[in-house]
Amino acid sequence: MEDYIIRPRRNRKSPAIRALIRETRLHPENLIWPLFVVEGEGQRIPVTSMPGVDRFSIDVLVQEVKEAHALGIPAVALFPVIAEKLKDRVATESTNPDGLLQRCIKALKETVPEVAVICDVAMDPYSSDGHDGLVEKGEILNDPTLPILAEMAIAQAKAGADMVAPSDMMDGRVDYIRTRLDEEGFQDVGILAYSAKYASAFYGPFRDALDSAPKSGDKKTYQMDPANTKEAIREITLDIDEGADMVMVKPAGPYLDVLYRVKEASEVPVAAYQVSGEYAMIQAAAQNGWLDQEASMMESVLAIKRAGADMILTYFAKELAARLQN
Ligand code: PBG
Repeated sequence: MEDYIIRPRRNRKSPAIRALIRETRLHPENLIWPLFVVEGEGQRIPVTSMPGVDRFSIDVLVQEVKEAHALGIPAVALFPVIAEKLKDRVATESTNPDGLLQRCIKALKETVPEVAVICDVAMDPYSSDGHDGLVEKGEILNDPTLPILAEMAIAQAKAGADMVAPSDMMDGRVDYIRTRLDEEGFQDVGILAYSAKYASAFYGPFRDALDSAPKSGDKKTYQMDPANTKEAIREITLDIDEGADMVMVKPAGPYLDVLYRVKEASEVPVAAYQVSGEYAMIQAAAQNGWLDQEASMMESVLAIKRAGADMILTYFAKELAARLQN
């Protein structure tokens, strides 16, 4: 017994043994692909701060989503690039039945209806102030924002969205949106709530992609303080009580502790969003030859799943799904 040595390495000695004991596996079915959409035809406009990500016009998008579907990706999340001249204080364009996002949803539902379409609900892409809520004298107003968000969600539901995803962090918005969707007969449209959404520096490249950065101030009065975790549990509990079908933690990689706690506390499925900055860091380092792109991509997303994500929004989705097939 004295000579007995415990040797954990025996469980790592070959690919076969490692495969047998592997606790976490990535699968394309866990992935949601976030996509930026622009007007026009045949457009693939690169996002400079997100190497490998393009903004697609609807025709290109349809083709891309077909390919993603063939790779086993079940869902996409859509983000429209709205022309500056269409932006105003109250995000009027967000409810236009012929607006870019609504046309995009319809096109996808006509061509690849099997893929679930998830739409962001927040004012920022449509707002001349670049904030998620209504701005008055530099303040982001909560309650006056709620009807604007609800009408946006209804417009998305009318166009055929499978789920709406409020990312605005206004208090009471899940309840408000749920009530209004039901009143309009959209009982089957789900709500994926961005519940624990932090005021993060890692959204920078996304705001480049949409040209949606706040014109003044920051988002700290509504998005959460990166220092806090208890607040995340409070937010998810509220959103579930208000009727969220799924909740989200965002960003993902720098917030794995939050994700772990949220997964333990949540009665509904948990999503995590590997945001634009997390993607950009890996791509930039890989372009410099400082990181192995494929291995870093795999590890970063695997870690998010291991920490508790049932599903992961990632700009790597299509590439990752393709790699998983080989
Ligand atoms: C809009 C929204 C943002 C992201 C998703 N929805 C930006 C923000 O809140 O400022 C960020 C996603 C990313 O960085 O990839 N409210």
